[in-house]
Amino acid sequence: MTYDATPTAPPDREPIGVIGCGWVGLVTAACFAELGHEVHCRDIVPEKVEALARGEVPIFEPRLAELLERNRERLSFTTDLAPVLDHARLLFCAVDTPPTYSGDADLSRVERVVDEIGDSTDHALIMKSTVPVGTGRAIARRREELGYVSNPEFLKEGSAVDDFMRPDRVVVGAEDGAGAFAERVAGLYEPLGAPIVRTDVASAEMIKLASNAFLATKISFINEIANVSEELGADVAEVARGMGMDDRIGPKFLQPGIGYGGSCFPKDVSALKQLAGNSGYHFQLLTAVIEVNELQKRRTIGKLKKHLGSLVGKEIALLGVAFKPHTDDVREATSLVLAARLMGEGANVRAYDPVAGARAQEMMPGATVCASALEALDGADGAVLVTEWPEFRELDWAGEVRPRMASPVVVDGRNFLDARALAEAGFSYEGVGRPRAALGAGEAAAPAREGSHGAPSAA
Ligand code: UGA
Repeated sequence: MTYDATPTAPPDREPIGVIGCGWVGLVTAACFAELGHEVHCRDIVPEKVEALARGEVPIFEPRLAELLERNRERLSFTTDLAPVLDHARLLFCAVDTPPTYSGDADLSRVERVVDEIGDSTDHALIMKSTVPVGTGRAIARRREELGYVSNPEFLKEGSAVDDFMRPDRVVVGAEDGAGAFAERVAGLYEPLGAPIVRTDVASAEMIKLASNAFLATKISFINEIANVSEELGADVAEVARGMGMDDRIGPKFLQPGIGYGGSCFPKDVSALKQLAGNSGYHFQLLTAVIEVNELQKRRTIGKLKKHLGSLVGKEIALLGVAFKPHTDDVREATSLVLAARLMGEGANVRAYDPVAGARAQEMMPGATVCASALEALDGADGAVLVTEWPEFRELDWAGEVRPRMASPVVVDGRNFLDARALAEAGFSYEGVGRPRAALGAGEAAAPAREGSHGAPSAA
């Protein structure tokens, strides 16, 4: 579908620049182009820029290719910053800020952009990259003439375009001196009709980190409730349903699983903990959130052993490699830890992912990456559902999978499969926090949940 911004969009949409054509930069560029802006994009990797100029999209993100294609005449890609500075005054910075060995964010790419812009008073740097609290103030102190606006992103991989076009809120942080730039940035988002949080730079930076840390906390919390439910005989799906109806709690991000992953939560939670530590504050809660997540990834091993005994020489199929469905991103994916742990236990790992197969090959040395789910399951002693890709639910578990497997053991790391149907088909089923589902037909009460938390809402 087209996001029709025309009725409310201001007629004089100003050109913008986007520096860094990674996932955030490309989504930002494509969406602003869709809103009618001329967008000048710069990346330092020539091959990427050439590919984008030819109309090729280097990442898998639903709707992105469609938007880039439709707005090709409004988009330009270059390795050179000069034409971007000539054409645009508002420069969105979307370069990456990976963690360093100390756990601090590596801001060298951001610093390079600041240096390259030079001492312009006409330009503003709009920070989309996730940076530690205090970064904006430090840059503004060093480069007083440059306008600085913090405008963090809250996009989810797999539904980033929809998230951009229908945000819950837009955060725009600026100090008084950059107030006029902040107004212009807020104006860019006006057609979207979302609430705009105008605040100072440090608070805007903190909103981003605190939001991710809170969501990660919610996940670790429900994972612990799931683990205790396994011991005490409660069904966590029922518990989450009952809890989520409380307005103050809400139903989202209460899906237990085998741990959160991705390029953001793990990094941002550690960054906030580190930031607090650097300032002399011990952020105890986040320490626990991180530890719970690490342990959660490893619990699967125990569940397999419960049914298979020693894992030495056992063939284990991993269904899903990406950190969540509808993306090919495997950064900090639970599958990687799981594969390494399984191989450490002496098992042979056979992994399959509908889109992340190529990346899996690089990231899982020693594992066999298969071309289909059935190939991975062929002769397997046990299967672990790691990523809730819809095609795994559509497999003919009773008719096709059961006869292929050497022993029918399934650990459903996302409570995604139909536990009752699997139990009826003779599988030993282990979910997360659903001890009754593991007992088999008749006693299994909870059906697999509808949809998946990470799935993009079809728009
Ligand atoms: C996350 C945030 O949701 C975005 O708002 C933020 O902009 C983004 O990080 C970022 O900082 O750039 P994303 O990493 O794409 O987005 O992934 P999510 O959909 O939030 O899922 C993160 C992880 O949590 C996944 O591994 C997912 O499987 C897991 N998860 C999520 C659960 O285990 N349970 C849940 O209930 C929800």
